[in-house]
Amino acid sequence: MARVDVPGSPGGGGFSTATFAEVRLPDEVRDLLGDRLARDRDPFEDIDEASAHCHQAFAQLPLDALRSLLDFGRHPDAPGVTFVRNLPVDRLLPPTPRDGGPSLGKRTFVAEGVLLGLSGLLGEPVGFLSEREGRLVHDVVPVARGAATQTSQGSTVFLTFHNDLVHDRQECYSRPGPDFVVLNCLRADREGAAATYYADARDVVGLLDGATLDVLRSPVFRMNAPGGFVSALVEGHEAYSDPVPVLRGPGEFPEVVSAANGVRPLTTAGRAALETFQTACRAVAHEVRLAPGQALLLHNRKGVHARSRYTARYDGRDRWLQRTYVRRNLWDIRHRSLPGVRRIH
Ligand SMILES: [Fe+2]
Repeated sequence: MARVDVPGSPGGGGFSTATFAEVRLPDEVRDLLGDRLARDRDPFEDIDEASAHCHQAFAQLPLDALRSLLDFGRHPDAPGVTFVRNLPVDRLLPPTPRDGGPSLGKRTFVAEGVLLGLSGLLGEPVGFLSEREGRLVHDVVPVARGAATQTSQGSTVFLTFHNDLVHDRQECYSRPGPDFVVLNCLRADREGAAATYYADARDVVGLLDGATLDVLRSPVFRMNAPGGFVSALVEGHEAYSDPVPVLRGPGEFPEVVSAANGVRPLTTAGRAALETFQTACRAVAHEVRLAPGQALLLHNRKGVHARSRYTARYDGRDRWLQRTYVRRNLWDIRHRSLPGVRRIH
């Protein structure tokens, strides 16, 4: 996998390759933003007001940084991942939650404001009942009982290349899911070993032969529903989708679907193609080791992401990310609306 060497960039500016972009905030912008967000109340008291407030704060970013972030969200030919650096952080950070969160000891909400501000430039933060009970901000922390699972709680296993999917009776699991996943780092693992990888389908496709691509574009794969759904809502039973392809859409703009909790190929050729696909993902992946003040914006349809193994000690000083799921709009998932609750489906 390709380690991302981050070149120096002018304040507020960014650079991009075909599939990776980077934005660094100038120090003075980081400090002003941090002061403003540090005064905010708990954003979950009124999420729409908090979201508007964060949007107003992020609208003050330097124009080139703001444009890079907006372009990432709106253009099919934009990079699949953007690395954002020099963001403000909470001055006092409580211990990393050991039970999957949320933290009860967090008194300021700078990290949440950063997450909502970045998310608001891409679309609408959305929660799903089957994932963290519908919370809009997920704490991504190691949990002892999930250490060896293919979930965000894991640490002792490589979390294979996947999209974040949502179980849905009507659709392939990718349809109602997030268009974007935003990760903000509050605390790195002590060794700085935990790496996040992103493989853009456009790069993956470039490594594959025609026969493999034909198989990956055929509906001979069944996706298992996410681990949270399977363990909480179907009592550990499997919940596989109808047969779907791994790749779909125009050759220039492929969309990829691959479940973390298991992809079941229905043919021998499908099994071989899936292995080749994962190998190609490793070959082309961008690698980022997130540190506090850094965030990753991941396009959840253009590519797949993964995580390395790392050491967790469950002592309050473990790695701590916060995550939002973001959709460009909520209209297309209105069939999942719950009475009296906005944003949770
Ligand atoms: Fe994920």
